[in-house]
Amino acid sequence: MAVAKPRILTGDTPTGSLHLGHWVGSVRRRVELQDSHDCYFIIANMHAFTTRADKPAEIRRDSLEIVRDYLAMGIDPAKSVIFLQSEVPAIAELCFLFAMLLPFNRVMRNPTLKTELELKGLGETYSFGFPLYAVGQTADILAFRPQGVPVGEDQVPHLELTREVARRFNQMYCSVSDQAEDDDHVKLGGVFPIPRADVGAVGRLVGIDGTNKMSKSLGNAIFISDSPKDVQRKVAKIFTGRQSPTAPGDVTNALFQYVDIFIPDRARVAELKDRYARGDNIGDGHVKQEVAEAINALLAPMRERRAAYEGREDLLVDILRDGCARANRLAEETLALAKSAAKLDFFPRALAVGR
Ligand code: TRP
Repeated sequence: MAVAKPRILTGDTPTGSLHLGHWVGSVRRRVELQDSHDCYFIIANMHAFTTRADKPAEIRRDSLEIVRDYLAMGIDPAKSVIFLQSEVPAIAELCFLFAMLLPFNRVMRNPTLKTELELKGLGETYSFGFPLYAVGQTADILAFRPQGVPVGEDQVPHLELTREVARRFNQMYCSVSDQAEDDDHVKLGGVFPIPRADVGAVGRLVGIDGTNKMSKSLGNAIFISDSPKDVQRKVAKIFTGRQSPTAPGDVTNALFQYVDIFIPDRARVAELKDRYARGDNIGDGHVKQEVAEAINALLAPMRERRAAYEGREDLLVDILRDGCARANRLAEETLALAKSAAKLDFFPRALAVGR
């Protein structure tokens, strides 16, 4: 019998086009995992409503744009499941159950949530639904009973919350002992495995401002959809503060982070570093030119794949329809197990989803 592949789930909140930070921090890893793992990628469009409920048209557009960027970057819908959070009802139902397993104050202490409240200046005005998204994210994940969740550093607190929900559910409704090791929960009858955060090697790409994390809202991003000229122009802006081509350069500066990440020829990287560090007549402009070429070589096949979906919303929707049907098959199975454990199994579900 073929051994089942390990399952992973991860995804994004649709906030706009994806950029090199997404590629380096998570999507590159997802593309690598596609053959060895059963991959589920969630477009968290309901999460987008927690801060942008007044912008449904934007959320819709951004959701489709993410699919297009995923496909451009090499996520293959024949291998991986790309789906919409809003079309998998089991997630919302599990969220309601899970909300009862977490102390209110535990949810509100989540550092990622707190940072977001500050960053977005939400103050006291945020909706009741806003903190619920943290509980919702535990349901996004657990509905798929994955072993691993590839994420950036900032998502680790959400994973901790998820692991806590899984443990508590298994203890409360499946008689798993509170002394059980995380890895033994399923063996001991728990519905949910305790999923691990798989934090990528390069968790964070600095933006072209040279200081902050690359982010659309900070205006320091290079997008997957940028033209070759855009890329050149943006790379040329990377700030280093170096004065002259003969001044000894700092090879840990922002520009050299790009050299390290995007120039594939390791011997060339070593040579550039050596000459830059010694101030061997090598200017920032020259290094930037090589970085821009490397990024454009990386983006060229992505641009081509992206262009195939230009103006073809119908194709993107077809991919989502198929992904949602596949996601619902698994999530419904999880929901049935969870409802049975929580004594909610009065009769089998008569609703049909994912026809
Ligand atoms: N909160 C994540 C972000 O903003 C997106 C997300 C939603 C997610 N549900 C998830 C990530 C489940 C991993 C697993 O980037």
